[in-house]
Amino acid sequence: MRLMTPIDLRQFERVVLFTGAGMSAECGVPTYRGRGGIWHQYNYEDYACQRAFERDPAKVLDFHELRRTSVLACAPHAGHVHLANLQAAMPGIEVVTQNIDGMFQRAGVRVAAELHGSMWRVRCAEHGISADEGHGAFRHRQCPQCNAWLRPDITWFEDNVDAAVFAHAADLVKRADLFVSVGTSGAVWPAAGFAQQAQRSGARMVEINPEDNEASSLYETRVREAASAAIPALFPL
Ligand code: APR
Repeated sequence: MRLMTPIDLRQFERVVLFTGAGMSAECGVPTYRGRGGIWHQYNYEDYACQRAFERDPAKVLDFHELRRTSVLACAPHAGHVHLANLQAAMPGIEVVTQNIDGMFQRAGVRVAAELHGSMWRVRCAEHGISADEGHGAFRHRQCPQCNAWLRPDITWFEDNVDAAVFAHAADLVKRADLFVSVGTSGAVWPAAGFAQQAQRSGARMVEINPEDNEASSLYETRVREAASAAIPALFPL
């Protein structure tokens, strides 16, 4: 690993880690756009949008059960564990994630906002959101109260984002004095707008990603390393 100058997080009061699929890549959870990415194998219009769900709910739920099963076979990496230790050691470290896999929570990391929801929750249009964790298969495919098909509580393409979740995340980003992007291509809006917001607010900008991407020019520090090694090396306890 190339040498990098460690950053003492104690110098900052409000740190936001803005994370994407690359944070889970080394756990074995495929990213979306990189090599072997999910959207290279599946057309989201068949599996991950409201139209597909209304057309064939069982097919959409089958796809998400496949993803849940594969995520359960994965485990958090050293970067996740180090992050949990950092949060335990000092206040003011917030995680805003685009990921739906729950990998942070499995490592004991406190997550301030799941911008795109979670594959471990389901939603009834009538009776709201409920947790459905621990197994590949959904506990219920239809609402026990009204028998309507349950959809994963995930923000799919063409969905509106959860306004309250985004407002909370935006508030954290606006007030951040250190903004660390980990494992995201910065390609999907409105989440992708957080980096510009942080830069405008004067935060120190750090990117952890082995590859350049369309948002990289926003970051004064670009760590071209994988998350599992970069997080412990960059932010010593
Ligand atoms: N460590 C850090 N970054 C990595 C690693 C790694 N080990 N491996 C890959 N990456 C980087 C890739 O270089 C890429 O820039 O992770 C990024 C993953 O980008 P995407 O696959 O586009 O995932 P993400 O940015 O999270 O996508 C955003 O798009 O499909 C929607 O809702 C979905 O939340 C997702 C959103």
